Amino acid sequence: MLLVFLGSCSGRQSALDPAGVEAEKMAELFWLMAGGAALIWVLVLGTAFYATRVRPRPHGEHVGRMLILGGGVAFPLVVLTSLLIYGLALMPELRAPGDGLKIRVSGEQWWWRVAYYRPGSDAPVHAANELRLPLGQRVELELDSPDVIHSLWIPPLAGKVDMIPGRTTRLVLEPTRTGTFRGVCAEFCGASHALMAFMVEVMEPEAFAAWLESEAAPARPAKDALARQGADLFLELGCGACHTVRGTEARGPVGPDLTHVGSRLSLAAGIMPNEPDAFARWIAEAEEIKPGSRMPSFNMLPARELDALAAWLESLQ
Ligand code: CUA
Repeated sequence: MLLVFLGSCSGRQSALDPAGVEAEKMAELFWLMAGGAALIWVLVLGTAFYATRVRPRPHGEHVGRMLILGGGVAFPLVVLTSLLIYGLALMPELRAPGDGLKIRVSGEQWWWRVAYYRPGSDAPVHAANELRLPLGQRVELELDSPDVIHSLWIPPLAGKVDMIPGRTTRLVLEPTRTGTFRGVCAEFCGASHALMAFMVEVMEPEAFAAWLESEAAPARPAKDALARQGADLFLELGCGACHTVRGTEARGPVGPDLTHVGSRLSLAAGIMPNEPDAFARWIAEAEEIKPGSRMPSFNMLPARELDALAAWLESLQ
């Protein structure tokens, strides 16, 4: 049982298995507080045991007064003040500025709009539902939302920060090891709040630079016949009114940018595998899979058209 319990402390979505400077500091604070709380718990139970079992007889008024003043006033005052000072002292470090790369993330219903701003360039690189971060660099995230409050939380990397309509909040991340992690929305934001996740890939700086370069490029033309048919269908069906695929006529600003959707680590904001079958299922059943989603279910499409669309989207690497 204990093993099962402790097993949940490691892994790609655990704040107790930190992979970033910010999360390490918060994990330290957590262990300090958990240790302190355990100590106080033992102390209180020990005193209760002593008073009821070891010496179960009335105690003098002086002892009682000392216990109340010492244990009830002085002790909490010292403990809580030191914790406050320790916690406040962490904040300037957590909010220290980044090394240059900025990422703007907007919480949408129910997915993530992502734009990378490289240092020295003001042309954003648009992406969605995934974050890629370079190892060992402090990256600044600017967070907002067009409609309701969301909260971005990548437990192994940092604490959560709310995304508030009409306001830009900041989060600075400095990953300390490469790997794939999982982030979630940590603020109830509507029917599909629990279906709003994303993958985070921490990469070596060179690999990250190469990835960002390819992400900035327009979509490559479809190679095989099925994918080409899918590309034509995408435009015929009007998908381009909501989605952008750079390098094609699809320039819709409503839904996620799909220029390199096939290369992402998941589909539909962290809830499905990135596979042709999942693409077909998502297109046909979006409203059922993610209730309240603005993506309509295209369940009137015959299977071969869904397959063609899926083949094209999967080929958008
Ligand atoms: Cu977005 Cu909860």
